[in-house]
Amino acid sequence: MRQTLLGLALLTACGTDIQALPPDATATAKLTWFQDVAPVVSKHCMSCHQDGGIAPFALTAYEDARDNAQRMLVQIDKGAMPPYGALEEPDCTPRFGWVDDPRLSATEKKLLHDWVDQGAAKGIEAPVPQPPSTALSGITKTVTPTTGFAAKGDRDEFVCYVLDPQAANGAWITGLQVRPGIPDVVHHVVLTEIFAGTTQDQLVAAHPVGQPFDCSTIQQPGDLVVNIWTPGNQPMETPNDLAVPLLANAKLVMQIHYHPAGIAHAPDVTSVDLRTSLAWPKKMYFVGAFGNAIAAPQLLPDPDDRTSTPEFRIPANKADHTEHMRFTVGDLGNLTNVRLYSANPHMHLIGTHISGSIERPAPRGGDPQKECLANGNWNFDWQRTYIYNAPLDQLPSVQQGDIIDIQCKWDNTLENPFVQRALADQGLNAPIDIALGEGGSTDEMCLEIFGIAVDAPPPPAAMRVDQSLIPSKLVEAIR
Ligand code: HEC
Repeated sequence: MRQTLLGLALLTACGTDIQALPPDATATAKLTWFQDVAPVVSKHCMSCHQDGGIAPFALTAYEDARDNAQRMLVQIDKGAMPPYGALEEPDCTPRFGWVDDPRLSATEKKLLHDWVDQGAAKGIEAPVPQPPSTALSGITKTVTPTTGFAAKGDRDEFVCYVLDPQAANGAWITGLQVRPGIPDVVHHVVLTEIFAGTTQDQLVAAHPVGQPFDCSTIQQPGDLVVNIWTPGNQPMETPNDLAVPLLANAKLVMQIHYHPAGIAHAPDVTSVDLRTSLAWPKKMYFVGAFGNAIAAPQLLPDPDDRTSTPEFRIPANKADHTEHMRFTVGDLGNLTNVRLYSANPHMHLIGTHISGSIERPAPRGGDPQKECLANGNWNFDWQRTYIYNAPLDQLPSVQQGDIIDIQCKWDNTLENPFVQRALADQGLNAPIDIALGEGGSTDEMCLEIFGIAVDAPPPPAAMRVDQSLIPSKLVEAIR
């Protein structure tokens, strides 16, 4: 369409027949913001780069994009924008792509480069498409804190809420979305489910439902990681056969990372939209975490160990320290069709890279003997849930005796801006040795939390979603 219009313009301007133009005449047609570039920037950038968004400047107007054009290309070429940690590297490329992968295609990247090379023209003003909607459809329930939290605006803050989804008989979650109250401060949200029982009672006694509490130095409570959300994320929606069990009387714990936006804010009230169903699914979602090995045999020796006994220690001022762990999957009981559905890599502030792969004794069905499960640059600010883009019956399978191999890398030098951040948090001015730990900003972790699809047991007469559903063998096998 655009080319036709330009063709006509040329025709009028030169008073000549289009046939008489040199064959590459249309190649001189300039790409423009409104006709070519804005739709791409809207799709990939504007959800954050808009007024009131998490990004520090907007990219919604032509002038914004023109003035930031070179910076945009630099960030896109580095793979830093849009922020997305998944990597495909020669030694570790997962077999499937990811659901809702926000990265630009090669064609889109080239389009942006060509536009800049051609002078970043404005074009004919036209409506700019809205960024893709992130709303969840079919919401059945929204859980909201009763008291908001006013972020100080000058530092990172980690605040948790216990939320009550009021599911006395339990339900099945098939969709979930986080709705930030003040989008420019809500940097990421981790949602866990905590089952009914003593631990939940103690938590609620200490932290009443709906009230914010500081969780910067504790590990987030919960039995099951349901989702990790970052700004601009599409809603989590499970495929037809799969659902996340919301057990009877379970609570949700929402951890919010508030980002320093430079100014103090009115209280933020972030809610969680849920789509629940009472229909009994064929498959249910559970989680299994591998990592955080503190000793041999799971923790392997590394060149920075001080003795021949492997230790999880990231030496001060070491720019490229690696810890390598291997876990053998134990007895999964009567679960026969255990498949990995998603991956949540998890490290703390100073991590730079995390990868996980599986080694099976032999190829099995459609599964190769060895495959990369997840691989990426770690950035604490941009953690998220990665969901395999593949049918459930083709997802990577796991059985007893398989080996899960996890490797994490850290940069513990002042070159790493996150080291500076961690040190500032602690009032320190030089890097220190870092060990495995659960809380403070100078503890580290190396964990792959996999979302796992397992066959759901047949529906009980009462259709109650309760603790009898927990695949206890699976939980043991991966501890
Ligand atoms: C998920 C939210 C999000 C999306 C999507 C996103 N950005 Fe950003 N962008 C940010 C944030 C937040 C920052 C501030 C730096 C940081 O926190 O990493 C930023 C910073 C930048 C910067 C400045 C970086 C620097 O150090 O100079 C550029 C340029 C940029 N983004 C371009 C883009 C472009 C181009 C796209 C789309 C292709 C995009 N961003 C998509 C959130 C986002």
